[in-house]
Amino acid sequence: MTEIGIILGSTRPNRNGEQVAKWVYDIASRRSDAGFEVVDLRDYPLPHLDEPLPPSMGQYQGEHTKKWAEKIASFDGFVFVTPEYNHSTSGVLKNAIDYLYTEWNNKAAGFVSYGGVGGARAVEHLRLVAGELQMADVRQQVALSLMTEFENFSVLKPGEYNVRALDTLLDQVVAWSQALAPLRTAAA
Ligand SMILES: Cc1cc2nc3c(=O)[nH]c(=O)nc-3n(C[C@H](O)[C@H](O)[C@H](O)COP(=O)(O)O)c2cc1C
Repeated sequence: MTEIGIILGSTRPNRNGEQVAKWVYDIASRRSDAGFEVVDLRDYPLPHLDEPLPPSMGQYQGEHTKKWAEKIASFDGFVFVTPEYNHSTSGVLKNAIDYLYTEWNNKAAGFVSYGGVGGARAVEHLRLVAGELQMADVRQQVALSLMTEFENFSVLKPGEYNVRALDTLLDQVVAWSQALAPLRTAAA
């Protein structure tokens, strides 16, 4: 079974991200072509990157790093749920991404973002990061405007078109996760 991690990239109290990740999971879990799991960064409290060697060397020393690496290694692809902070993704998500290398390689990535302009700028940054990590970022994106897809900027009420966009995004993430499986096998 193809396994897709839905990474919840916000940890602050009162975060909108929790509703967004739950919405993604609820729609994804209707599917039978892959398994889905929400990975909440609150459950993986990583300090500012404290590994002595570059992650690409794969010699992790911290127990927190090993636990995070084991979780990410268990997936074939990802949906990143990202807020937009100061025209980029959150620091906590970037830090969690920076911790690892091989565990991200040759896996698909889709992005569900939210913010004043749907988190579009956060995703543009994440696409650059994905390239360096040898991730295949799919075209379809779900960008949830705080103005139109949330009530009072805090209660998620996504339009039907966003449900369709999410279905397409999941189609693409699952397809590319499966297509890249031979590369992951060769690397292992
Ligand atoms: C530190 C910070 C910076 C923000 N910067 C932006 C921004 O540059 N553009 C934007 O559209 N929204 C910005 N926002 C609004 C967030 O996108 C919005 O509060 C969103 O709900 C944050 O995600 P979270 O609730 O899951 O943490 C910012 C919010 C925070 C906390």
